[in-house]
Order: sequence, then structure tokens, then C-alpha cells
Amino acid sequence: MQAFITQLQTFLKPSFLLTVEIDKAPYLTDWRKKFTGKALAVLLPGTTDEVAKIVQLCAEHQVAIVPQGGHTGFCGGATPDTSGSQIIMNFKRMNQILDVDVANQTITVEAGCILQAIQEKAASHGFLFPLSLGAEGSCMIGGNLATNAGGTNVLRYGNTRDLCLGLEVVTAKGEIWNGLKGLRKDNTGYDLRDLFIGSEGTLGIITTAVLKLYPLPISQWATLVATDNIASTISLLNLFQKRANSLLTGFEMMTRDSLDLNTKHFPHMSNPLKGNPPYTVLIELSDHESEEHVKDLLQSVLEEAFESNLITDAVIASNLSQANLFWQMREHITLAQAEEGANLKHDITIPLSSLDSFITATDQIIRSKYPGVRVINFGHLGDGNLHYNIAPPSDRDPKSFNQENEKPIMELVYGQVERCQGSISAEHGIGQLKLMDLRAHKGDVAHDLMRALKTALDPQNILNPHKVISI
Ligand code: FAD
Ligand code: MLT
Ligand code: ZN
Repeated sequence: MQAFITQLQTFLKPSFLLTVEIDKAPYLTDWRKKFTGKALAVLLPGTTDEVAKIVQLCAEHQVAIVPQGGHTGFCGGATPDTSGSQIIMNFKRMNQILDVDVANQTITVEAGCILQAIQEKAASHGFLFPLSLGAEGSCMIGGNLATNAGGTNVLRYGNTRDLCLGLEVVTAKGEIWNGLKGLRKDNTGYDLRDLFIGSEGTLGIITTAVLKLYPLPISQWATLVATDNIASTISLLNLFQKRANSLLTGFEMMTRDSLDLNTKHFPHMSNPLKGNPPYTVLIELSDHESEEHVKDLLQSVLEEAFESNLITDAVIASNLSQANLFWQMREHITLAQAEEGANLKHDITIPLSSLDSFITATDQIIRSKYPGVRVINFGHLGDGNLHYNIAPPSDRDPKSFNQENEKPIMELVYGQVERCQGSISAEHGIGQLKLMDLRAHKGDVAHDLMRALKTALDPQNILNPHKVISI
């Protein structure tokens, strides 16, 4: 391997080619602290040409590459294995916003741009870049694209795939594919862009992207409402979809157990709704017409919801800082889970028509089989996406509870997902965490097609091997 490192040294300065343990350490453990690997080196390329040169050398020396953005992913996709033979390619130096095209309503960015920086740049030109998630201050657009991240605006604007018009990608051979045309229509054969989006660094390395922009809304209103059960919550969603249509930009659900965990770790995050309701829903409307228009609409839909007994309480944010507090309450659940210690995460989607059946049955079976567990079920209900997470009973040590019960609980949850024709990964991807689950749930034909693609695009299996699919 010394020859490989020596060749890298010809074009990467020592500060961009980290081989000393203490320098590599910050890149080796994922956000959840679930996976820690080893790496031959951590490389910090500054240009697409450098990425291509590195990949060419890796292909020559058969060295596997783990692309890494903000390392906030939940499935261990950006963490190397424990062999110490893989390199990490971290994108933090490739963080330039290259262009804002006002007429085309697009922004062109390098893979290492922090998501929040893109949102801010767009806003400074009067545009909205709608991708929004709790990790936006540290995740990078390359990671968002590679995981096809979701977040809280999917209901209105779609997931990352829907927000991308073009990509530049370095292939497994080290060639540069320039697909950066910012076109809304392009039917020239197979859609290569969509193949790389969501492939978690296993088919190619994303270096630059052209993203869609939207006009900034004039006014946004957030409200918290209380519901008694999941059936009313879904009827409430349908009511908002009917009355507010495209003005509905957020519909997030939180169970009582989720918010109790929040207040345990962050006492200032208390729920302003009365009586600690079974379900709390955060609803956001965004309008391009006027403040009065959206406020009147929100009030009239809430009145209708009260009259139809869909909700038991509601608090409308009276100003922007209260609206931000509502959103913080929602986003702190993930942080509260991290504080609580090891937990079982399930990021699933269920068709809205089966959500009631899924939650009712799964809650009942889990609670009777594992008395005392807390169902930290929250998520993007408008997309049918639940973070159906399980915390151990308060008196049990989380690590030992998980060791004993992780597999049977997961099988139980995924069994219900199959029954309801849902998906075992809604927005977080597969990484190394769900490699075997994908094998078990994707179906043989789909799995074989995926393997054929992987073999064709990366015959030496050097791009993030043993993530998503093993060949
Ligand atoms: P990383 O974790 O660094 O990498 C993720 C995957 O992408 C890895 O497989 C990696 O190899 C690959 N990759 C990274 N960069 C490239 C590249 N340039 N080319 C090719 N492959 C690459 N996710 C959601 O979908 N919705 C949420 O609401 C959400 N909320 C979150 C809240 C918190 C507090 C946290 C910590 C995470 C959350 N996530 C959420 C998960 C995570 O933020 C997303 O998956 C995000 O898209 C990962 O971006 P990253 O830059 O951190 O990628
Ligand atoms: C979120 O929606 O906050 C994240 O995707 C969640 C998580 O599973 O913690
Ligand atoms: Zn989420």
C-alpha cells in the first residue's frame, strides 16, 4: 500500500491526506455511535479532477472507497469497515456554491456544501430550497443526494430526488460524467441521474449538482393540535389536503411517549397543548398570497376539525419564534433519543390507508410482548413515514435490552410493514445497517436487478462495498 500512498502524495498535500490515527479518528464513527471502522487514510479532495485521480489510483490498486459527507446518516453508509484497508473520501473541502441561475430557478453546488448554506444562499436571492431536516446544519448535499434524503417538506416539494435536475459524477473507473444540464425535460434514454441518487456511494461519486429552486413563501403559519387516535389524525390530514391543498407544507406526528422523552432530557421543550394528548400534530401552511389569506384558511380548517371531533385542542404560533419552538420540539426527539442511549430505530413508510391498522396492531403486540417499552413513534405522517422507534422500559439497561430484543422486535415491526405493503426504509437508506433486511424484503427479481447494476457500474467492487448490496 505504500506505493498507493506515495502516488497520492504527488497531488494531495499532507493536510488533505490523513494517515495518522489521531487525525483519522473524527471520521471513523457515525452520528449514532453505532458503527466505528478503521481506514487506511482519510482523503480530502478539493476538486472533481482530484476525485477522479484518486478513484483511478484506487481502481489500479484495488482500494475500496467510502464517500463521506457530514457523516450524519443513520445507516452507517459513510463509516468504513474494520479491516483498515478502505479509504474515506470526505467532501468538506468541496463546498462552493458555483451558480444561482435566477431565470432557470436553479442553484449549482459542489457535493460538500452544507445543506443550510444552500438554503441561505437561495433565500438571499428570494428563493426557497425546500429540503429541510434536523441535520441541515451539518449534512452535505452529496450525502443528501446519495441517500435521497426526505425531511419535513416532502409532502409539498418531494424528496431530494425530486429537487435535483443534474449531476456530475465520478465513475468507478475514475471517469467524469458531466450531467449538469439544468433541464426539466430530458428523455435521452436511461436516466443516469436517478440511478446515482439514492445509491449511497455504491455506483458513483457525486461531485456537483444542479438543484431546483422555488419562490419563497410570503407567510408561514404553524400550529400544534391534539388528537385522540391515529384514525382522526389521518382524517385531519385528509381534511387539510382537501382544504389547503398545495399550501400544506408540513404534517408531523408525535406520540405522547416521544414528547415525554423530550421533556425528560430537555425540560424547556414542554408541550403547550393541554393534558398530554396521545398524539400531537405539527401542521404548517405556507402561502404566496398574503398573511391574512393563510391565517383565515388555517383558522377555518381548525374550526371544521373541532366541529367534526377530529381534534381536542389547538395552539397556533403567534409569531415566528413560537413557530420555531414548535419545530424545535419536533426535532429534539431525535436528540432526546440520543441522550437516552441505545434505541431501536425503524424508518418505515405505510400507505396512508393502512396506517391506522399498522399502528393499532403493532402498538398492541409490542406492548403486550414487551411490557413497559416506550413507543417513540413520530415522523412525517403526511408522507406515511413513521420513525417507529422503540425505547426500552425505563428500568432496563438500554444496551442489554437491545442485545436481547433487537432482532425479534425488528422482525415483528417489519412483519407488520410487509402485511401493510409498506417499505422498511422510507428516507434513511440501507447503508450497512439494513443490508440483510434489504436482501430479505426487496424481492429476488429486484435484488438481482440491483446486483446486475452494481456489477456493471463497479465491476471491481471498490465503491462503498458491502453497503446497500453485497456482490
Ligand atoms: P453521510 O452520512 O456522510 O453519508 C450518507 C451516505 O451517502 C453514505 O453511504 C455515503 O457513502 C454517501 N455519500 C456521501 N457523500 C457522497 C458523495 N458525494 N457521493 C456519493 N456518495 C456519497 N434523514 C432524512 O432523510 N430525513 C430526516 O428528517 C433526517 N433527520 C435527521 C436528523 C438528525 C438530527 C440527524 C443526525 C440525521 C437526520 N437524517 C435525516 C439522516 C441524515 O442527515 C441524512 O441521511 C443525510 O442525507 C446524510 O447526509 P450526510 O452528508 O451526513 O451523509
Ligand atoms: C427525523 O425525522 O427527525 C429523523 O429522520 C429522525 C429519526 O429517526 O430520528
Ligand atoms: Zn425523518
